[in-house]
Amino acid sequence: MSKIQHIGIFTSGGDAPGMNAALFAVVKTAETLGIKVSGIRRGFEGLIDDDLIPLQSQQLQKQMHLGGTILKTARSERFRSKPGQEKSLQTIKDNKIDALIAIGGDGTFRGMLSLSSISNIPFIGIPGTIDNDIAGTDYTLGFDSAVNTAIKCIDNIRDTAESHNRVFLVEVMGRDSGYISIYSGLSCGADSILIPESAQDFTYLLEKIKNYSSEDAFIVVVAEGDEVSVEEVSSKIRSVNTDIDLRIAKLGHIQRGGNPSAQDRMLGIRLGVLATKALFQGESNKMAGIRNNMPTLSAFESRVKEHIIDAELQALLTLFCK
Ligand code: F6P
Repeated sequence: MSKIQHIGIFTSGGDAPGMNAALFAVVKTAETLGIKVSGIRRGFEGLIDDDLIPLQSQQLQKQMHLGGTILKTARSERFRSKPGQEKSLQTIKDNKIDALIAIGGDGTFRGMLSLSSISNIPFIGIPGTIDNDIAGTDYTLGFDSAVNTAIKCIDNIRDTAESHNRVFLVEVMGRDSGYISIYSGLSCGADSILIPESAQDFTYLLEKIKNYSSEDAFIVVVAEGDEVSVEEVSSKIRSVNTDIDLRIAKLGHIQRGGNPSAQDRMLGIRLGVLATKALFQGESNKMAGIRNNMPTLSAFESRVKEHIIDAELQALLTLFCK
């Protein structure tokens, strides 16, 4: 018999569409394996405060299509301290939790690595963040939905931009990762895409905008973490081409909400099943991910964050934006 009888699961950091689908898949799989699952509310905060609820797949089945996280989430300051971590361990002990599943981004996984440095509680991480910046997986939960939302917004912006022959700077989320910017920008035929991982892109933009004749729209997608802010891009553009009608649109948290796309629901289901079976089979301290479209477990390293822009993506950026 597996040593795992009771799993605690929580979502932490920024919510991401697909988290509820992953939750449903974990609970459904656990039920078939005879494992009890408790939901820990508000991420590490709930672990500190002993804020647990029982979870059943019957109820979650009707909520898996929702955006956000039904477990609620938080960016916990208290968990950074030793007392916060010790209090969390007490909650785990008091509730006889044998293993944890953490759904979140790099901050969440760094938190789990801290916890595992002071205890032997087995855990599996499920990457959930719209930023797509986690090592051990090609895609994170929420990225595809966020890109689809950004695309809808940029398509709308294009309608008005084309009507007025305006330059639009559209800021998208992603923290210091340029993935949302690249995927939404390429998918919308943007004239320029600015990402934190490249400095050349700004040079291409300035070259291009010099010859812009105001007879068309000109769409620039800017990652929020780019080394130049949208405001700085705006004033630089105005300094190289004075004859420009320019507007800024910041998409903000709109990108994080909304029902998950089919891809994020499927990703949530696949990673939820993988994580639960892995714990049942005695795996510990691993990341559940998708590599080359195959569910894959990888060991946690000190480096949990990754956003490599590979040669193909780089070539696409050059082809379409230079
Ligand atoms: O990490 C997800 C993310 O949405 C980033 O893209 C963004 O920079 C950040 O969270 C915003 O965080 P908050 O909702 O705490 O302002």
